[in-house]
Amino acid sequence: MTEPPLHEDVAHLAFLLGTWTGEGEGVYPTTEPFRYGEEVRFFQAGKPFIAYTQRTWHLDDRRPLHAEMGYWRPDGRTGIELVLAHPTGIVEVEEGSLDGQTIETGSVVVGRSSTAKEVTRLERTIAVDGDVMRYGAAHGRRRATAPAAPDRAAGARRRLRGWPTGSVDGEIPVALLDRAPA
Ligand code: HEM
Repeated sequence: MTEPPLHEDVAHLAFLLGTWTGEGEGVYPTTEPFRYGEEVRFFQAGKPFIAYTQRTWHLDDRRPLHAEMGYWRPDGRTGIELVLAHPTGIVEVEEGSLDGQTIETGSVVVGRSSTAKEVTRLERTIAVDGDVMRYGAAHGRRRATAPAAPDRAAGARRRLRGWPTGSVDGEIPVALLDRAPA
């Protein structure tokens, strides 16, 4: 089946489209920092949203780690919404802004199933520079005291240790992904 044309409402989000792969590092108070592999896919169906899947795996034995699926929805040209489901019993709605090819969002809703672990706040930053995507997420049990933000002065292929800078009292996975050839 041929792909339908991109909906005009998401034309300015076309820079996200594709499959991105790379590696990241997670920092969490209860574990040693760990490195992981990641694949992220942004795709479209001719509708006014961008569909999204993510999966990660341990680099030592390739065992699955975190995964998530959802939709990115434009709010005009500079606003953006994210609705997302996690296999860990968490659903979330994030809202934020788009500045060029940098997206920053924070949660406005976090829902948890009865067995889900306590997560009350999430923040994300995605910055695309050509075929390189820098990605960061932070979560915690309380509101972050500083926004997660990319180091805009950094070179596109710089490793992301220490980024984002948001101080959320949870894990802060950050990754550097390359767009896979079409
Ligand atoms: C690239 C993305 C992510 C990776 C690679 C990742 C990986 C991990 C790993 C390795 C652990 C520790 C071992 C374990 O419990 O399995 C962990 C714990 C955890 N992660 Fe993530 N994670 C990611 C994103 C997220 C996100 C977005 C959330 C929130 C929705 C989240 C919520 C949690 C929670 C609640 C724990 C358990 C903490 C505890 O046991 O107290 N993670 N994650």
